[in-house]
Amino acid sequence: MKSISGFSKLSKTGKLRWVAENFFKDPKLVASELTSFWHGDNHQQKVFDDFSENTLSNYYMPYGVAPNFIINGKTYCIPMVIEESSVVAAAASSAKFWATRGGFKAEIIGTTKIGQVHFTWEGSSEKLNAIFPDLKAALHEKSADLTKNMRNRGGGILSIDLIDMTHLEENYYQLKVKFETCDSMGANFINSVLERFGQILQTFMFSSPAMKGKERDVIIIMAILSNYTPECLVRAYVECPIEDLGTFDGGKTSAELFAYKFDKAVKIANIDPYRATTHNKGIFNGIDAVVLATANDFRAVEACGHTYAARDGQYRSLTKTSIENGIFKLWLDIPMAVGTVGGLTSLHPLAKRSLEMLGNPSAKDLMSIIATVGLAQTFAAVKSLTTTGIQKGHMKMHLMNILNHLEATEKEVNQAVEYFKERIVSFTSVREFLNNSREVVVINN
Ligand code: MEV
Repeated sequence: MKSISGFSKLSKTGKLRWVAENFFKDPKLVASELTSFWHGDNHQQKVFDDFSENTLSNYYMPYGVAPNFIINGKTYCIPMVIEESSVVAAAASSAKFWATRGGFKAEIIGTTKIGQVHFTWEGSSEKLNAIFPDLKAALHEKSADLTKNMRNRGGGILSIDLIDMTHLEENYYQLKVKFETCDSMGANFINSVLERFGQILQTFMFSSPAMKGKERDVIIIMAILSNYTPECLVRAYVECPIEDLGTFDGGKTSAELFAYKFDKAVKIANIDPYRATTHNKGIFNGIDAVVLATANDFRAVEACGHTYAARDGQYRSLTKTSIENGIFKLWLDIPMAVGTVGGLTSLHPLAKRSLEMLGNPSAKDLMSIIATVGLAQTFAAVKSLTTTGIQKGHMKMHLMNILNHLEATEKEVNQAVEYFKERIVSFTSVREFLNNSREVVVINN
């Protein structure tokens, strides 16, 4: 494999040519293929290019919608960006199912975000604690210029605590800072404040008359937000009398049996990490799709969700169920640090449209919408798993991918869709079907 120095200094076409010529059998074809995915509008393409570095082209993903979501009495059509077949269909079918059973409910439990300044200091903890009230005042005062706008919007710094971690690591302390970032996800705001805090801390200790010798030296290890935001939390839930659930799998599964199996499935995900991982993956199928469609940070949301799922030391299901007094209830508690202003939310043209489609929600509304889609997604997945099994619906959806892969014509697609209505879809069965029908055509000709 070739390497290169100064790649980032090449022009975009220079980069594309270098990659095409050095890693592909047919550089011309690859270069023209990559170029064919450029946006027709140069200005728009430049916006996409500038999101990241060394951009060669655009990587397409389907942008779909799941309509008819009723959340807290309001109807939404929800944009979803996802490549996995069945996910949007599952969300839409869940939305339809719950629309006639009271809809989805969501409530915000908190919106607090967290950042940390990690530092080392050689001295007695008592002395640091004693000086901390003055330090805290300095931190607030000397970062006031950075926090002014956020304070005007109703947010800013909520609290600053000094955490002694020396029992775990020699000389290690933290400033643990809580923030309210209103409608922004707040990463840049938080990180700017924390970096300033690092400087203030060093200057404060260096110039404090109470500090002598080594006590004047603070080593800032790093200053960064925590993507674990358990206090930026939303709950989404559905509930209805068991008999209102109806029957499943063509009447084979009664409402009572369904509720029993569903409840057990969620309890299994709560006690078994192998199942919990797959169960939560089903939730993130929905969550990630909306997080992506609104240009939020899906890595942050995922990382946080998984940590939260393991908050008591074992990785568990993010959803819970209860069956009490004949009422079936399913809920999802999930931390969700997302924004509806700042970042790419207004720069990415489709993210902007996604937010418009959702009625330009506040960050709290978006937290509710995203959590609801996660809940809808897992409801559909566990419903299939505990009734018909997942493959029937999944492979039906996947049929189109297989047909595209085998370059089926429109006529063949229509025939295959008809043929596989009552048959099991697999790559082999679809290939055989196409081979057979193609042979028939050759013989007939
Ligand atoms: C597939 O993408 C997601 C599921 O595996 C989720 C689950 O098992 O609950 C169907």
